[in-house]
Amino acid sequence: MSATPSSFWEMDELRIITGAMVILGGATALLVVMPYLLLKDVPPPAGLKPYTSVQLTGRQVYIANGCVYCHSQQPRDIKQAPDALRGWGRASVAGDYAHDTPHLLGTMRTGPDLLNIGARQPSKDWQLGHLYQPRAYTPGSIMPAYPFLFDVRQGAAQPGETVVNLPPAFAKEGQVVVAKPEALALVEYLLSLDRTYPALAPRATPPEGAKP
Ligand code: HEC
Repeated sequence: MSATPSSFWEMDELRIITGAMVILGGATALLVVMPYLLLKDVPPPAGLKPYTSVQLTGRQVYIANGCVYCHSQQPRDIKQAPDALRGWGRASVAGDYAHDTPHLLGTMRTGPDLLNIGARQPSKDWQLGHLYQPRAYTPGSIMPAYPFLFDVRQGAAQPGETVVNLPPAFAKEGQVVVAKPEALALVEYLLSLDRTYPALAPRATPPEGAKP
C-alpha cells in the first residue's frame, strides 16, 4: 500500500498518545489536584481531638482486619440518605477527617456507619464482647467474629488483664476470655470515633441581612 497524504483527522500514534495524555492530565487536575488544593488547609474543628498513640495503633488494627470493607465512616446529608434518622450522626464535613491519614471513608455499608460509634455505643465491655462474638449481642449478625484478638483460657485471669464479660448464654464454665492489646487498642479507637460536636464554628457576627 502506498502512503496517502495525512489529513487532520487521521489517527497516528503521536495523536493517540497526545490525546490520551491530555485526557489523563485533565482528569488528574479535576480529581486530584483541585480537591487537594481545596481541602489542604481545612483546619480541624474545635471539638476534634487528635488521636492518642493507642488509638492510632487501634486504627491500624481496624485497617489490618478489613473493617473498612463493611463499615463506612461518612454519615450523609438527609437529602442523600436517612443517616441522621438511623442515629449515625450529622453529615460529616472535611474538617472531621483532619487527623485521618489515610482516611477510612469506606464505600460499603454491610454494617452501620461508624464515624460516631464512640458516642452511640460508649461501653468498652460491649465493644470487646461484640468483637469476640457479634452474635452474642446482635442475634443473627453477619459480622465476622475476631476471636484471635483475644486469649481464651481455662482458669482465672492474671492481675491487670481485661476480662471480657460475655452474656451468660455465651460464657463457658471455667473459661476466661481476655482481651489482647490489639483488641484493647481497637476498642480505644472505636470509642474515639465521635464527631458529634457542631460541624461549623458559630459565627462571631451574624452575616449581613440575617434576621435577628
Ligand atoms: C462482613 C462485614 C463486616 C465486617 C468485615 C465487619 N463488620 Fe462490624 N458489623 C457488620 C454488621 C452487619 C453489623 C450489624 C450487626 C451487628 O451489630 O453485629 C456490624 C456492627 C458493628 C458494630 C456495631 C455498630 C452499631 O451501630 O451498633 C461495630 C462497633 C462494628 N461492627 C465494628 C467492626 C469492626 C471494628 C470491624 C473490624 C474488626 C468490623 N466491624 C468488621 C458487618 C461487618
